[in-house]
Amino acid sequence: MDEAIILTIAILGGTGKAGPGLALRWANAGYRIIIGSRQAEKAQRIAQEINEQLGIESIQGMQNEEAAKAANICVLTVVQSAHKKALHSFREALKGKILVDTTARVDFQDPKPPKQPSAARMAQDLLGPDVRVVAAFQTIPAHALRENINESMNMDVLVFADDDEAADEVIMLAEAGGMGAYHAGDLDCAVVAEGLSAVMIELNRRYKSKKGAIKIAGLEK
Ligand SMILES: NC(=O)c1ccc[n+]([C@@H]2O[C@H](COP(=O)([O-])OP(=O)(O)OC[C@H]3O[C@@H](n4cnc5c(N)ncnc54)[C@H](OP(=O)(O)O)[C@@H]3O)[C@@H](O)[C@H]2O)c1
Repeated sequence: MDEAIILTIAILGGTGKAGPGLALRWANAGYRIIIGSRQAEKAQRIAQEINEQLGIESIQGMQNEEAAKAANICVLTVVQSAHKKALHSFREALKGKILVDTTARVDFQDPKPPKQPSAARMAQDLLGPDVRVVAAFQTIPAHALRENINESMNMDVLVFADDDEAADEVIMLAEAGGMGAYHAGDLDCAVVAEGLSAVMIELNRRYKSKKGAIKIAGLEK
């Protein structure tokens, strides 16, 4: 990747199941990565684990707000129950940036599609026009992100945004991470991806997998 255009991506709440897998793939593709957490030490520990796995030293760990301030693009991977509270606390730090919201409001024990408005629409309303929110990665299983990171995942990401340019940036990120990606609608449509994640949980349970995902047919790019 050209040194002059290397983006810094902060993964807020990046210490859980989904965040480290995205970090692994993007760091492997040459992006600068900051892991965010409520506790800087926890973020640094997870960053160090990913650095060791990749044989690099560039991934940093910071407290969430510091991570958001230092990044060009922020990716929200806090647990779904903390979505609103986390957005309130990151609000100032996110101004002028793209926020990729991965939230799917689905209960693993009783997966059902959530109601409108989508989590990403709620995020956009809360953050206001200074932040461009993009919903993505809801249907990508965390387990699959961490495996065979040099290979394509053969899975597609549905990207939802009101802003076409922001959607294109996130499509590029998904592709850099080995996924296919399509701009599938505006932020209101993102509730469908949240609902699909309920379907994926059910499919994975019935067919005894941790890696079920979706693939779009019939489109050419
Ligand atoms: N897991 C998946 O396969 C998957 C796939 C697609 C999308 N997603 C979405 O990704 C998001 C994260 O999922 P996950 O499975 O990675 O969640 P998780 O592992 O349960 O939690 C992620 C992080 O949330 C932070 N957190 C917990 N309570 C918090 C609070 N009260 N305030 C702020 N941060 C808090 C924690 O970070 P610190 O303790 O370090 O602050 C934790 O490491 C969810 O919205 C989910 O819908 C998940």
